Amino acid sequence: MGTNLKNLELPYNRGHHFFAIFTACATLVVITAGALVTSNDAGLSVPDWPTSFGYLVKVPHFVGGIRYEWTHRMLAGSLVTLTLAIALWTLAVEKRRWLRWLALAALGTVIAQAILGGLTVLLLQPPAVSAAHASVAQTFFCIAVIIAVFTGRQWIEEQPRVEFDQRRPSLFTLTLLSIFVLYVQLVLGAMFRHHGLSWWPHVLNAVVVSFVLAWTAVRALSHYSHIEAVRRPAILMLSLMIAQLCLGFAAFLTRVEWGKDAVQPELPMVLSTVAHVAVGALLLATTVVLAIQVWRHIPVAFEERLLEAERNPSAA
Ligand code: HEM
Ligand code: HEM
Repeated sequence: MGTNLKNLELPYNRGHHFFAIFTACATLVVITAGALVTSNDAGLSVPDWPTSFGYLVKVPHFVGGIRYEWTHRMLAGSLVTLTLAIALWTLAVEKRRWLRWLALAALGTVIAQAILGGLTVLLLQPPAVSAAHASVAQTFFCIAVIIAVFTGRQWIEEQPRVEFDQRRPSLFTLTLLSIFVLYVQLVLGAMFRHHGLSWWPHVLNAVVVSFVLAWTAVRALSHYSHIEAVRRPAILMLSLMIAQLCLGFAAFLTRVEWGKDAVQPELPMVLSTVAHVAVGALLLATTVVLAIQVWRHIPVAFEERLLEAERNPSAA
């Protein structure tokens, strides 16, 4: 009953939700454009920042890596504007206080990301700064995706069918573990890509990632496949993980094995590494969505919660 009343106060805002989806899609485009900069070794082709060859928006001659670095900057600038717009829109229409804070957090993250991008250029690509730029990019993508989920019609209007999870480790714990190992994988991959670490910690951790994500997906699908909000991200997570492993092997062959004596950047290396970065971002965001849906539909059963549910079944 309480949930019903709360939902009546929360009208679904189609325009706001579609704009949130657009911002999330735009983020994936900027991540792909950024990955093209790194794979083409174009990070220092525009030497100044926040200006580009002394101007804020003047198109330079597209020679060498300039086309990648300049395009990435312009797309990133547009993304900062989109994020400012979604933050202001959220503050104007949103009743949920935590979501207003999340929109402000998105704005803070994208500004921090732009500053890290600038520092990468001004400090001449220290591995830690470049890897931080790569990692914050995916964090921002996750925030943009969950804002789109929280503003969606399904999230606002559905009455979640709650099933308490009595298994240990709980499915929710497994999803949190999956996010953790994926973050470790992201940082190790970014440090390798930016020449701060060898490749083997990343490849070794890929075994851990495969095990933890497979465990999570199998648990979700074998016990809760009747809950669509959980089944869909679980299947997507598993499929993206398989694709990501294949792309990882392709990136390894083209970058490390065949690539070491080649005059880089060669097209197969660029394609496989850029796809590996983009699918990595999709995989992380999907896992975050899965964790949120599990938290909503399959909360961990503590004794007090079970007793409360028995006493008052409609509240569950
Ligand atoms: C206007 C501000 C920005 C500047 C000046 C900037 C600059 C750069 C530079 C120079 C690189 C290449 C780094 C290297 O190869 O060492 C890069 C890569 C990248 N950027 Fe940005 N960037 C900015 C904003 C953004 C934003 C807003 C995002 C996304 C949310 C983003 C996502 C990325 C990604 C994903 C990479 C590739 C990292 C990798 O492949 O390891 N950047 N950026
Ligand atoms: C599901 C498991 C995996 C995930 C989530 C993952 C994720 C990532 C991410 C996000 C990056 C780039 C970080 C950045 O933005 O800079 C990366 C880089 C890389 N990964 Fe993976 N990876 C996985 C498995 C693998 C496997 C199995 C291999 C090889 C056998 C591999 C090889 C590489 C290589 C070679 C790079 C660097 C590419 C370059 O130098 O341009 N990855 N990985």
